Amino acid sequence: MTAPTGRPRLLLASANQGKLRELRTILHGLPVELVGLTEAGLGDPPEVEETGDTFLENALLKARAYAGWSGLAAVADDSGLEVDALGGAPGVRSARYAGQGAGDQANLDKLLAALAGVPPERRTARFRCAAVLVDPGRAGGSGGLKERSGSPPEEREWHAEAAWEGRVLEAPRGTGGFGYDPVFLPDGWDRTSAEVDQATKDAASHRGKAFRALRPAIERWAEGVRPGGRARAPRTPDPPGDEA
Ligand code: IMP
Repeated sequence: MTAPTGRPRLLLASANQGKLRELRTILHGLPVELVGLTEAGLGDPPEVEETGDTFLENALLKARAYAGWSGLAAVADDSGLEVDALGGAPGVRSARYAGQGAGDQANLDKLLAALAGVPPERRTARFRCAAVLVDPGRAGGSGGLKERSGSPPEEREWHAEAAWEGRVLEAPRGTGGFGYDPVFLPDGWDRTSAEVDQATKDAASHRGKAFRALRPAIERWAEGVRPGGRARAPRTPDPPGDEA
């Protein structure tokens, strides 16, 4: 579906304001018109249950659901924090660690309580992000980054994943970012991810890396659906992106 600008519309399939802010910055400059869930003009978006066991499964669940609901191609991510001393928790449950609908502060408080008494060297952790693009289906060719070949045959999907290593501090520092940023000290940094500006975070973060790896697929997709754009031709997949 093409906007009056001539650029295809691409749905940002997230209701998380912190994440949306980051995605708009990271995806800036692409030849697409980014549309938020509430800007699609379709009323209230459906709730999507994140029932997957992996970040990738959940990202696909969200992107497929919102692409199907809107008829627009959609990008989504699923992300979270894996803490080694907690056996990988909160992981895919990061957004609802302190309960369904829990806010960032409650999740962060629960994390610090769970890690009470754990020494700095055992507080290793990483953010992970799975980024996906789902085109809900047009007649079309094939090709792209990690394309799925399931049914319906026209539906096309691409994904990329990345991680950001660091450790969890004992007390929050900084007011930037969102979620667990105030307690996340990336490896090699002396500031938390809540103490740096957005560009500095994006350059290193799991989300920045995953979406930069997905970006060529989004560009090719946009070129393929733009009126007068070149026809899609089968092509060999890209080499693996900035994955971890
Ligand atoms: P999602 O919306 O289901 O992907 O949930 C992601 C959750 O993981 C967020 O609500 C945060 O708690 C956490 N998270 C993911 N990425 C970040 C980040 O960049 N900074 C801080 N917390 C994050």
